[in-house]
Amino acid sequence: MRLLIRDLAQVATPAGREAPLRGAQLGEVDVLEDAYVLCDGDTIEAVGRMRDLPSLDGDIDEIYGDGCCAIPGLVDCHTHAAFGGDRVEEFSLRAAGTTYEELHARGGGILSTVRATREAGENGLRDAVMLHRDWMRRHGTTTFEAKSGYGLDRDTELASLRAIRDAGGVPTWLGAHAVPPEFDNADAYLDFALAEVLPEAAEIAEAADVFLERGAFDAAQARRYLEACRDAGLALRLHGDQFTEQGAIPLAIELGARSVDHLEATGDEGIRALAASDVTGVVLPASALFLGRPMPPARALVDAGAAVALATDFNPGSAFCESLPLCCSLAATQLKLSPAEALSACTVNAAHVLGRADRIGRIAPGYRADLVLLDAPDWRYLAYHLGGEVVARVVPGGELP
Ligand code: NIG
Ligand code: FE
Repeated sequence: MRLLIRDLAQVATPAGREAPLRGAQLGEVDVLEDAYVLCDGDTIEAVGRMRDLPSLDGDIDEIYGDGCCAIPGLVDCHTHAAFGGDRVEEFSLRAAGTTYEELHARGGGILSTVRATREAGENGLRDAVMLHRDWMRRHGTTTFEAKSGYGLDRDTELASLRAIRDAGGVPTWLGAHAVPPEFDNADAYLDFALAEVLPEAAEIAEAADVFLERGAFDAAQARRYLEACRDAGLALRLHGDQFTEQGAIPLAIELGARSVDHLEATGDEGIRALAASDVTGVVLPASALFLGRPMPPARALVDAGAAVALATDFNPGSAFCESLPLCCSLAATQLKLSPAEALSACTVNAAHVLGRADRIGRIAPGYRADLVLLDAPDWRYLAYHLGGEVVARVVPGGELP
């Protein structure tokens, strides 16, 4: 079935098929005024100005986009959507002054979600991931990555990855998120995870991720974990420089990782090194905001020529936020990225991080017909309308849900 979305105020799309956009390219968004998008099944067939619309034969569904703007379906390349329970109690304690690190040191934080996730069971986890996927979808996310990392035992890690895959997400094995209570040190836990979980995790996941941070895994442990995952065929990601610099950027570059994510603590040397590399820096401003931490140096990264992506970090502890439009507002107001840079960062560059940039992240013929219609006369309302209901309609894969 073909679908014509006509009379759109604007169609806005970034470029960047071959490689992630970096530096000034991030701000180059093509905008067509008074435009249409024609979809054939799940694929975009044509995009153009209304005045150039050819006459179309056969059965065609039509939507009138009057007053709306179309952007590519948003791509959330960093979430922790597979978890049980919540951390609303800790959130309230933090509001009263307790720090995130203090909660972790008391056995709360990630480990409290590990307990709740183990208790949820496979069906509970499946329900949770589908619920979270639907929340994201309402905010325009048509492709989401999600990490395991709240199971940390064999069965719950594998159940998390299956739940993500079966909900249509891109699964990442975050086997090195924290050391679970049944192990007394990180190396003993990694012995177990690499021997007992990796072989099956590598069958389901597309990438592996590690939390390289004081109190989590050190650089030597991260290297050991990532090398084993790479040998098992997984792409590599790192949580790095969230609170302190522990060598995540040089390690990511050396191992050819797809991304280093967080970067709130990254200094000048890290910015220079990342900008000179092929590793994408994924910034997560909702997480910095939620924890009251410094924002990542996204402006300096883009100015230095780095490839930058933008994601929510959706999780119950450090970023209970599934909205990429809100992250675009934070990118503009806190990170000093332009709306165009923010859009590129959570569409085409996020698609590159997920190894899918040949098919998603842009509005162009041959791409998947994942579209978001914004209730706005100008597509930049995506960032401008802070916390507003900016998403009028989501069209995933050319379908009208
Ligand atoms: O990306 N930093 C490590 N992991 C998550 C938070 C996990 C949690 O607090 O539950 C993050 O912020
Ligand atoms: Fe994260």
